Amino acid sequence: MSSPTANWSYPTAIRFGAGRIKELPQACAAAGIRRPLLVTDRGLAGLPITAATLDILDAAGLGRAMFSQVDPNPTDVNLAAGVAAFKAGGHDGVIAFGGGSGLDLGKLVAFQAGQTRPVWDFEDIGDWWTRADASKIAPNVAVPTTAGTGSEVGRAGVLTNSESHVKKVIFHPKILPSVVICDPELTVGMPKAITAGTGLDAFAHCLEAYCSPFYHPMSQGIALEGLRLVAAYLPRAYADGGDLEARAHMMSAAAMGAVAFQKGLGAIHALSHPVGAVYNTHHGTTNAVVMPAVLRFNRPAVEDRLAAAASYLGVGSSFGAFYDLALGLRSEMNIPEKLRELGVGDNRIDELAAMAIVDPTAGGNPVELTLDAAKELFREVI
Ligand SMILES: NC(=O)c1ccc[n+]([C@@H]2O[C@H](COP(=O)([O-])OP(=O)(O)OC[C@H]3O[C@@H](n4cnc5c(N)ncnc54)[C@H](O)[C@@H]3O)[C@@H](O)[C@H]2O)c1
Ligand SMILES: [Fe+2]
Repeated sequence: MSSPTANWSYPTAIRFGAGRIKELPQACAAAGIRRPLLVTDRGLAGLPITAATLDILDAAGLGRAMFSQVDPNPTDVNLAAGVAAFKAGGHDGVIAFGGGSGLDLGKLVAFQAGQTRPVWDFEDIGDWWTRADASKIAPNVAVPTTAGTGSEVGRAGVLTNSESHVKKVIFHPKILPSVVICDPELTVGMPKAITAGTGLDAFAHCLEAYCSPFYHPMSQGIALEGLRLVAAYLPRAYADGGDLEARAHMMSAAAMGAVAFQKGLGAIHALSHPVGAVYNTHHGTTNAVVMPAVLRFNRPAVEDRLAAAASYLGVGSSFGAFYDLALGLRSEMNIPEKLRELGVGDNRIDELAAMAIVDPTAGGNPVELTLDAAKELFREVI
């Protein structure tokens, strides 16, 4: 099968297929954007795919305004600078372009530019999102360049507090991109380590959603097929970055992971978030390192469920078969064994564990993540 093409309307309008970045002007028109600001991270700003995208906008009379002061694990400082650029340029919408970092910051610029309250007032807690003036939220079009976070189909942005070094999720239904362009050709140039880390982030989203105890059968089904796609196609995308069919299926799996995790995430993300916020490690790679220890920790609660997943994935019919698959993906992708190899020390375990148990994702773990359990898990994975 060659690389698939499709138009989807769930969970938002998605133009899926190789080469479809050329439809960006139409996507902006559909979103009601006439003066877009393209928001991306510093690394992508200098790459040919970004220059080519700006050329497409320019040729359609949409200008080539770009804001790229965006760090990996973007912060409130990045957001303030982005909002200032948005206002100074008289923009009416954002093209959020990149991996999770560029996508999240771009979505948040479009959201925050019209608000008067501090962004932290819109953390994903209860009905805090209703504090926002919804009429002042600018539209955004999302263009993923990695296949991992699924932020392109999400209603939230992850923002690191530059003072407390805590990652917060900022939520509003209107943060959901109006239009998404999923063009797998944009992901072809990803370095191997980013292909691996982002791909295993998608796997972690599907896995944790699938194991979460909450009732959400729609997400359950999506999570299972997402796991299958990653298991089948991530090794191919990793081995040959130019394999467009594999890149396309990974792009689908990433979006599926984000749809699925409306059901909940778990301890992989609860451990990974503080590590990313404190040590600035890559999110998906951090998830991949901690995954086996969390699987062992959760085993009593998920044994049957993961045996069923193993059957669906065609690798056996036991928890052990699924566990071996996860370990195999990890080693095939050259993921480090321990967080130590990502620069994480063992001198702040108490602090990391305290942050992990209050992370919003901790509540979705199938086995209760107590403070002692979190400390023990960190000792194991560091
Ligand atoms: N909104 C959500 O639902 C959600 C979910 C999971 C993670 N996140 C957040 O997303 C961020 C991580 O995103 P990510 O894993 O996609 O990484 P990233 O966006 O930080 O990108 C990683 C690196 O890859 C580079 N890159 C991206 N695309 C490339 C391409 N096509 N070619 C070459 N280089 C490329 C970037 O410049 C960057 O240096 C974290 O901040 C994480 O907290 C958000
Ligand atoms: Fe994630």
